[in-house]
Amino acid sequence: MEYKATVHRLMKEKEQLSFEFFEHLHKHPEISNQEFETTAYVKDILKSLDIEVIDYGMETGVVGLLRGGSDGPCIALRADIDALPIQEDSTQEFCSEVPGVSHACGHDAHCAALLTAASILSEMRDEIKGSVKFIFQPAEELNTGAKILVDRDCLRGVDAIFGVHNSPDVPFGSIGVKDGPLMAAVDRINMKIYGRGGHGGQPHLTCDPVVAAASFIQSAQTIVSRNISPNRFAVVSICDMKAGSGAINNIIPEEVTMYGTVRTFDSADAKMIEERLKKMIAQIADAYNCEGECEYIYQIPATYGMHELYDTAYAAASAVGVPVDPTPTGGGEDFSIYQQHVPGFFYWLGIREEDNDCVYPWHSPHFKLNKAVVPIGAGLYAMSVFKGIDAVNNGLLK
Ligand code: NI
Repeated sequence: MEYKATVHRLMKEKEQLSFEFFEHLHKHPEISNQEFETTAYVKDILKSLDIEVIDYGMETGVVGLLRGGSDGPCIALRADIDALPIQEDSTQEFCSEVPGVSHACGHDAHCAALLTAASILSEMRDEIKGSVKFIFQPAEELNTGAKILVDRDCLRGVDAIFGVHNSPDVPFGSIGVKDGPLMAAVDRINMKIYGRGGHGGQPHLTCDPVVAAASFIQSAQTIVSRNISPNRFAVVSICDMKAGSGAINNIIPEEVTMYGTVRTFDSADAKMIEERLKKMIAQIADAYNCEGECEYIYQIPATYGMHELYDTAYAAASAVGVPVDPTPTGGGEDFSIYQQHVPGFFYWLGIREEDNDCVYPWHSPHFKLNKAVVPIGAGLYAMSVFKGIDAVNNGLLK
């Protein structure tokens, strides 16, 4: 357990460095798949730490490999690096220098924490009985970045992976450690109802898809309430609807298009919701002499704290903060894509501070976190490597 004292000492020593990383990244945000400068910045730092940068032929995103003092398990650590097309309006001491773009989800803190962890672990490399893969992932906000990396075989040789996201729902200094689902599976639903258009004053000559759509939208809200136990989590939201060509009072359109999202923690629930939506839209549309269809696209599965790694993650979190049992959210995370391939655990790093204005949700223009969270995140990543290697060696993941 000597490594715990060393991690603590280095967290303190590298605090200023971690703030520099955070400030730079915060001032220079880049949206998904455009993280070119961030990529170059991360690469330069990894190289300066004598960490090998592996070329997967990606335009953005970086993977680094640190070999420890002896052979052993490979632990991957993942941070996302993309920002959002949101104009910052926060009380952060330094702000985004890019108009209309900001790190309103705090990925700058994740990236800075992983860079700091790389700095800590590079000094401790002789103590690492295995290796560490640092994954700086692009395009998390589009739910596509993890897939890019997995498709390029970046998980080859990885025994376990750990990921971290900040949480404005968890108090600063606490770390959310969940034994089970933490963030929801995200599926897309694209729906259409086809009718027969005509004059708004002569509806009897039409098959009105707007009325059919209204009925369908109401009914779709019963899928969760009448089919899933009130003790379970599921969401069906229809978020976008298009009928007609805009602000016209007297034309009944030919068709109505709807877009929405389904969120679940259990894939069996998603399957049930898919079946109900397809049946409901077809039969309700039919009742109005229209035709309806629903395209159901499975995008990302639920992100969770893997049961077999719970004690490991709890121990790592205890070393740098106060572990708490967080309330799961209907938001999604493409960390789950890695979890489909290798054992993994996902933490929430608490940032909530009422006194410091760090209370706003992800993607709010007011979103703010205290940079003091960055060295804590770095320590969490570093501890996860040592605890993760122990877990693999102790056969916990067999
Ligand atoms: Ni995020």
